[in-house]
Amino acid sequence: MEFVRNAWYVAAWSSEIDDDLRRFTILDEHIVMYRKTDGTIAALEDRCPHRLLPLSLGTRKGDDIQCGYHGMTFDCDGKCVRIPGQSNLPSSAYVVSYPVHERHGIVWIWTGDREKADPDDIFDMPEFTDPDWLAHHGDALHLKANYMNVAENLVDPAHVSFVHPTTLGNAASENVPVHVSTEGETIVAWRWIRDAEPIGFFRKFGGFTDNVDRWHYYYLHTPSIAVIDFGSAPTTDNLAEDERNKGNRIFALHFLTPVTRDHTIDRWMHIRNTAIDDEAASESMDAMFRIAFQEDKDVLEAIQQEEDRPAKRRPIRIAIDKGPMVYRKRISELIEKERTQDLASSPTPAYVYHD
Ligand code: FES
Ligand SMILES: [Fe+2]
Repeated sequence: MEFVRNAWYVAAWSSEIDDDLRRFTILDEHIVMYRKTDGTIAALEDRCPHRLLPLSLGTRKGDDIQCGYHGMTFDCDGKCVRIPGQSNLPSSAYVVSYPVHERHGIVWIWTGDREKADPDDIFDMPEFTDPDWLAHHGDALHLKANYMNVAENLVDPAHVSFVHPTTLGNAASENVPVHVSTEGETIVAWRWIRDAEPIGFFRKFGGFTDNVDRWHYYYLHTPSIAVIDFGSAPTTDNLAEDERNKGNRIFALHFLTPVTRDHTIDRWMHIRNTAIDDEAASESMDAMFRIAFQEDKDVLEAIQQEEDRPAKRRPIRIAIDKGPMVYRKRISELIEKERTQDLASSPTPAYVYHD
C-alpha cells in the first residue's frame, strides 16, 4: 500500500503520550513515542537495527532507549550511543527519528522527506484559540477500513440523510444538489437546505422547533483531514452563505491517520460557537457524535469487507460522487509525484519539444 508521505499526520492526542515507551502504527510504520524530560515528544522507528526487537519493549535511560535484547542504546534523535561489548559505534547503527510537532493538544508527525517537513504547513484554524469559540476533543475511533474510503465519506454530504437520520440528517435533504469546488489543496462539497425541519442535533443544541435554514460544508484537506462545517439558523433570518457565524455553527474535525491498508484511526473533535460555557453540552454533543460516527464505521467496515472479496463487476458512480472522485484523483497524483523524481526540467532541459 502506498501512502502520501510528504504530509503532516496526526499521530495522537497529546494526552495519549507520556513518559512510557508506546508503540503507534502510522502509515504502516511502527513508531515508538514518548515524552522526553523537557516535555517534548520523541518519535523513533520501533525496531532495533540489530535483531529487530521493538524498542518499545526496551527501557528508558533518561531520554535514551536501551534495547531489551542486548542493550544497544539510542538517543532521542535515533543515534546509537552505546553498544555493550564494543567501543566503536558504526554509523549504520541508528534508528530513524521522525519530526514531531505538538499544537492545540494534538501531536503531528511527518514520515516523508525530512527536508520538506515545515511546521508552518500543519493544519490549523483560528477558531482553536478564538474566545468566541470552544474547542473540545472527542475520541480516537478505530475503523477497519482503508483511509481513502473514510476520507471519501467526509467529502460526501449526500450520505447524511440515509446514514444519520436521527442526528445529522433527515429526509428533507435527500434530493438537494451537492456543490463541489476546490480551493488549493482543499476539496469543498456543500449544500444548503432551506426552510426545512431542524435535524436532531439542532433540536437539542439550539432549541429549534420551527423550520430552519441549515448547511453542510465538507472541507477535505488532502491527504486526510476533514472539517465539517454544519449549522442552522431560523429560516426567518434568511442567512446568506457567508453569514454562517450568525447561526448555530459547529465544526466537526476529523484527523484521519492511516494505520495500515485496512485500518484507520479517526481522531475527531469539534469547535462550536454555541453553548461555549456549557461543559455538559460538550459531553452530550460527543454522545450524539458517537452515535453518528458509529453509523459511519458500520457502513465503512462493511464496505471494506466487500472490497476485499473478488470483484464480479465494476462499481458504478453517480451524480453525488463528484467530491470523492476529485479526492481519489488528487491522492493518486500526490502518490505519483512522490514515487518519481522529475529531473527533466532542471537545470536545463536536454531536449527540444515540438508540439
Ligand atoms: S536486538 Fe537490540 S541490541 Fe540486539
Ligand atoms: Fe457520516
